Amino acid sequence: MTVIFSVLLFLFFPCNSQFSEPAVAVEQQPGAGIKGIPSIGLGTWLSDKGKVAHATEYALDLGYHHIDAAWIYRNEDQTGKGIAASKLHRKDIWVTSKLWNSHHRPAEAERAVKESISNLGVGYLDLYLMHWPVSFIPNSDGNQLDKSVTILDTWRTMEGLVRANYTRHIGISNFAKVDVEAILEMCTICPYAHEFETHPYLQQQEFVDYHREIGLKVIAYSPLANTNPVYNRGLPYGILEDPLWTGLAEKKNVTAAQAVLAWGIQRGTMVIPRSVKESHIAQNLRALEIEFTKREMEDIAKADKKVRLSNPGKKWGVPLFHDLDDPTMLDGETKAVEL
Ligand SMILES: *[C@@H]1O[C@H](CO)[C@@H](O)[C@H](O)[C@H]1NC(C)=O
Ligand SMILES: *[C@@H]1O[C@H](CO)[C@@H](O)[C@H](O)[C@H]1NC(C)=O
Repeated sequence: MTVIFSVLLFLFFPCNSQFSEPAVAVEQQPGAGIKGIPSIGLGTWLSDKGKVAHATEYALDLGYHHIDAAWIYRNEDQTGKGIAASKLHRKDIWVTSKLWNSHHRPAEAERAVKESISNLGVGYLDLYLMHWPVSFIPNSDGNQLDKSVTILDTWRTMEGLVRANYTRHIGISNFAKVDVEAILEMCTICPYAHEFETHPYLQQQEFVDYHREIGLKVIAYSPLANTNPVYNRGLPYGILEDPLWTGLAEKKNVTAAQAVLAWGIQRGTMVIPRSVKESHIAQNLRALEIEFTKREMEDIAKADKKVRLSNPGKKWGVPLFHDLDDPTMLDGETKAVEL
């Protein structure tokens, strides 16, 4: 039924998307302003709702031009207040948001992107990502999987969001390599970026290189690894106390956090550290000034631990990252972690 309806709509509105109203005023589309995604952005996952507005405003006025948001973070309204309060023009800010798993069906997706745009107060997005390659039944309790929507269906829906001018670019997040390939084979509007977990403890260098070869930007989430208090993989110390990183930091007269972020930037990924603290926000930005030698980069590469910190696959009952380092173990096994 839905398929027939979509086909009919397509016949009647062949050059447009399946969406009813043209969403965004054409004059709001940026011509000049920001071109590509900036190497460092402010992350907002788990940012305190009461603090993220100030953090966003502070970051933008300090020199950030990139905000990483998502519908599911449930703080886009406050993040939007910060964007509005900053001195930057809309066209000089790169704003990313993400389609939640419960919103993969076309009508849900359109409602969700409008809600994110409206909460962020931005008129349009620069980048809209499929947050996970997983679809939930809308409004279902307990994240029931929606077998009726594939990631290819969802990609088609997202292409429609570009045509309707809700977003300049679309992309993916948390995809396995085979799923990236599947999208590349069928896309008309192809992904601009892939946002996934990568940091010195989960380097995935081959996967990062693969994205460079196919022309997809990599946005590195959790670039400071296990500094996030929600992560608990039994590592004996946080990355900021890791002797390799305190050593490098001392050598360069910077903080360990700056060194770790600088590594992410130097390997060509975009890093999106979250912070609501002014001092950290300012410090993180200065990672742009640090450089490593080839030898130092090789030493860091050797210290990869292949430890994934974010994997809800077991909770959702879906295998994730199955062709990458440290995939979902559905049988209850967890990999022993040793440093
Ligand atoms: C989207 O923007 C383009 C370029 O500004 C414009 O030509 C087109 O008509 C717009 N589409 C919709 C559906 O508003
Ligand atoms: C190290 O950094 C601090 C703070 O940025 C600065 O005050 C100091 O002069 C630096 N020392 C050297 C040796 O560069």
